[in-house]
Amino acid sequence: MCGIVGAVAQRNIVSVLVEGLRRLEYRGYDSCGVAVMSNGAPKRARSVSRVSDLDAQVRDSHLDGVTGIAHTRWATHGAPVTDNAHPIFSRDALALVHNGIIENYESLREMLRDKGYEFVSQTDTEVIAHLIHSMYRGDLFQSVREAVKQLHGAYAIAVMHKDQPHTVVGARQGSPLVVGVGNGENFLASDALALAGSTDHFAFLEEGDVVEITLDGVKIVDREGVPAVREVRVVAAYGGAVELGPYRHFMQKEIFEQPRAITDTIPQADHFDASIFGENAKQAFDGIDNLLILACGTSYYSGLTAKYWLESIAKIPTQVEIASEYRYRESVPDPKALVVVISQSGETADTLAALKHAQSLGHKHTLAVCNVGTSAMVRQTELSFLTHAGTEIGVASTKAFTTQLVGMFVLAVTLGKMRGFVDAKQETAYLTQLRHLPAALNSVLALEPQIIAWAEDFARKENALFLGRGLHYPIALEGALKLKEISYIHAEAYPAGELKHGPLALVTEAMPVVTVAPNDTLLEKLKSNMQEVRARGGELYVFADAGTRIVSENGIHVIRMPEHYGPLSPILHVVPLQLLAYHTACARGTDVDKPRNLAKSVTVE
Ligand code: F6R
Repeated sequence: MCGIVGAVAQRNIVSVLVEGLRRLEYRGYDSCGVAVMSNGAPKRARSVSRVSDLDAQVRDSHLDGVTGIAHTRWATHGAPVTDNAHPIFSRDALALVHNGIIENYESLREMLRDKGYEFVSQTDTEVIAHLIHSMYRGDLFQSVREAVKQLHGAYAIAVMHKDQPHTVVGARQGSPLVVGVGNGENFLASDALALAGSTDHFAFLEEGDVVEITLDGVKIVDREGVPAVREVRVVAAYGGAVELGPYRHFMQKEIFEQPRAITDTIPQADHFDASIFGENAKQAFDGIDNLLILACGTSYYSGLTAKYWLESIAKIPTQVEIASEYRYRESVPDPKALVVVISQSGETADTLAALKHAQSLGHKHTLAVCNVGTSAMVRQTELSFLTHAGTEIGVASTKAFTTQLVGMFVLAVTLGKMRGFVDAKQETAYLTQLRHLPAALNSVLALEPQIIAWAEDFARKENALFLGRGLHYPIALEGALKLKEISYIHAEAYPAGELKHGPLALVTEAMPVVTVAPNDTLLEKLKSNMQEVRARGGELYVFADAGTRIVSENGIHVIRMPEHYGPLSPILHVVPLQLLAYHTACARGTDVDKPRNLAKSVTVE
């Protein structure tokens, strides 16, 4: 999704800005641009192609300057054309970049038109640029503070004015913005990752903050205009780990990184203890008797999987809700609920808003299961569990999902132990299973050649059904989501028992039916559902555990999985579905890491 980089330095800053955009590319965008102060006025280059094209443009035009802002845009208001690409100018005096959505832009546009401002883009962003320009009286910081009071919606902005050529001002509300503190130079960015290589010292702005960066320093006020100090933290891990290496795409690399990511995520301790989730976790867990899980997309499916673990292992009632639904629904708050948000990025606007909504309803105990330790979600929850997937570049989530599952399993066993449902023997067994998981995953990854053969068939289809039961139904959902988002094949998932209640009407010889078939207590039921499909001519593609006695025959293709892996089996079964989606997308020639219309970190609602 949209990305911001800004800098004030004593050196030509264009290459730093463009490199910052390059680091944010993986989030998805459809245009990009950069502006610098040059000979007393902002000058810009914009592209509706890739950052590499923008780079070529700035080199050809010898664009240089010591103060600048840059942006990758994921279109919301107005098509991805050059006029709508940021930086947006106001009367060739002010340049601005914006992430987020301004909800009252239409009334502001009318008001600014009445004042004589001409609009040349279809963006909501242009109203911010003109609004700040209209309020400018020689102090950019002050005019931004005044202007943002009139904005409704979500924004992170960076802005510069020709009369203050060594100043960039930023503001945030509902969209992230960080300050990078350098040596004699300072930066702004929507994600610290953008500034890897320039600084590792970051201050994370809070909601409503307005910031001014100059060569000399950083000035911040909060939403009330009171000077604020935001702790400068060293965030060292950024920078590396984003190389493709021998893989064809980041998604493939990330699928194969899962054994390592899971090893890094499993807690080191030889027992399950509440302290894994934070200092106050024991006290918080003692005071709860149910869970409310809030998340979006793939992270929502990890919540759905976790519900089975939480209710079977910890015997704790668990509700899982899509964040964008929960935030606008009238719900009954329960002071004894632990609110769990699950998110790779920790910045997803809907999940963040759902968390705040839950807190505003009086929910006291909150936990984030998240892959980014410095994210807004981790900062806004009482407790946290960090997944150590490492940077996930592919838009389609893979290693973040399986590491979230590890985090949620650890939560289920920890609560189960505290509530007296997991004894010492069972605890050791769970820990042993977790520790063997990376090795088991390696044996599943070795199935890749067989999956490639299936992918050739799938690449020619336009529809697919995915079936699972119980603990593996959310895995079928995740398999269908992976296939549709990167191969653009329409895919749907059903609990296998639900087939006869409607979707069976879709089954013909042309419909491939992917079936997740663990060797668990529901196996015989699942086999009956498979027969229902075969009887209608549907072709089954089954990932079957050893011991299921499901064999390949006419209309049934089987890939043999290892022995059933007990409650952790979903973590093994999702991997071949990731590989199937990946290789099908490759066979169809789609842009696997950056599928159309999608963004990595969804920071608008
Ligand atoms: C799908 C995918 C998305 C994300 C969703 C939530 O492959 O990646 O569905 O899971 O946008 O994102 P996070 O986990 O960052 O909150």
